[in-house]
Amino acid sequence: MKKALITGITGQDGSYLAELLLSKGYEVHGLIRRASTFNTQRIEHLYVDPHDDDARLFLHYGDLSDGARLVSLLSRIHPDEVYNLAAQSHVRVSFDEPEHTGDTTGVGSIRMLEAVRLAGIETRFYQASSSEMFGASPPPQNEDTLFYPRSPYGAAKVYSYWVTKNYREAYGMFAVNGILFNHESPRRGETFVTRKITRAAARIKAGLENEVWLGNLDAIRDWGYAAEYVEGMWRMLQAETPDDYVLATGTGITVRDFLDEAFSRVGLDWHDHVRFDPRYLRPTEVDALIGDASKAEQKLGWKATVDGRALARLMVDADLEAIGYEGKPWHDVVDLRSWRAA
Ligand code: NAP
Ligand code: GDD
Repeated sequence: MKKALITGITGQDGSYLAELLLSKGYEVHGLIRRASTFNTQRIEHLYVDPHDDDARLFLHYGDLSDGARLVSLLSRIHPDEVYNLAAQSHVRVSFDEPEHTGDTTGVGSIRMLEAVRLAGIETRFYQASSSEMFGASPPPQNEDTLFYPRSPYGAAKVYSYWVTKNYREAYGMFAVNGILFNHESPRRGETFVTRKITRAAARIKAGLENEVWLGNLDAIRDWGYAAEYVEGMWRMLQAETPDDYVLATGTGITVRDFLDEAFSRVGLDWHDHVRFDPRYLRPTEVDALIGDASKAEQKLGWKATVDGRALARLMVDADLEAIGYEGKPWHDVVDLRSWRAA
């Protein structure tokens, strides 16, 4: 049985990846942070009491800021594959907490790489790199595009990208960078723009609220479906030789387009509900990210099938369901409040 260690297992991607690896028969180990409240909601459905004989998911307390703990965990677990997904992953927040972002999203990666080296284990290493590294470089962006990060988050990811490449060259480690464009899902954190929009569309439709405050609506993003992207991560680690790959859909739409799609899904006009708050602007913005994933298609046979608009519909439907709606098309329900009361 293959063993994998996932950092960031409680996040959006970590939960989908854990699901995928368990379905492939792996023993999965996850690093989780100690918190005063439960932070494992996204993986609750996968959890089996570790005392049970058939348990294949094991969680360990740890933090990317604690290098010694990472060494001892890696020495003990001996994973065949390590997926380093943990990070302070919010771009806007990285302007508020630049030092913390540098410590986890940047230096955290070299702590993981160094822990693999010091533990003296043979393992394949995946680094969650980001299209945010391209920043101001115009689209379409691929593996050869110049990095020009526009945030402390983007700069920290560039550092992680290069140390991953360096450990591959310096120590012959099977270490790869997955340069992933934005990918979303019903499990997306509620403060990223897609989820903020789909959640608001559902709640406004249900009469639970009436407006949502947003920032820049002109930004273009290449939004794909997270469940498909974790398959690409896994394929990178099954390749014969280590290499870096872009994963993207190849189609970019604006935040405004995403709003259109999400609100029309529930028969609403977003202009009636969206308000502008400059708090959500970034000191420097990334205007347009549209990826060219042809290398991943050729070498890994990976291709995205869900684009940004389909994703908006899928996420709105899930958010409707989350507030009590049980899977019928929204137009079957004239007013969710009366439906819920019935
Ligand atoms: P996410 O939902 O924000 O999850 C981040 C994960 O990292 C959570 O499990 C979080 O734990 C954990 N974490 C944060 N700081 C940590 C620390 N100091 N030590 C240990 N764990 C820590 O992010 P995601 O969307 O799944 O993304 C996964 C990775 O891919 C991230 O590195 C992100 O930067 C990168 N990425 C994401 C996208 C995207 O569009 N989603 C695109 C490109 C790259 P808690 O649950 O306790 O907070
Ligand atoms: N979060 C947020 N909240 N973004 C907003 C809002 C708002 O109220 N209003 C407009 N936006 C705009 C942002 O300015 C940005 O241009 C765009 O919506 C997308 O913002 P996010 O959803 O926060 O994602 P991101 O593109 O900054 O970063 C995500 O994708 C990266 C890959 O390109 C994150 O998942 C990063 O971790 C990831 O690396």
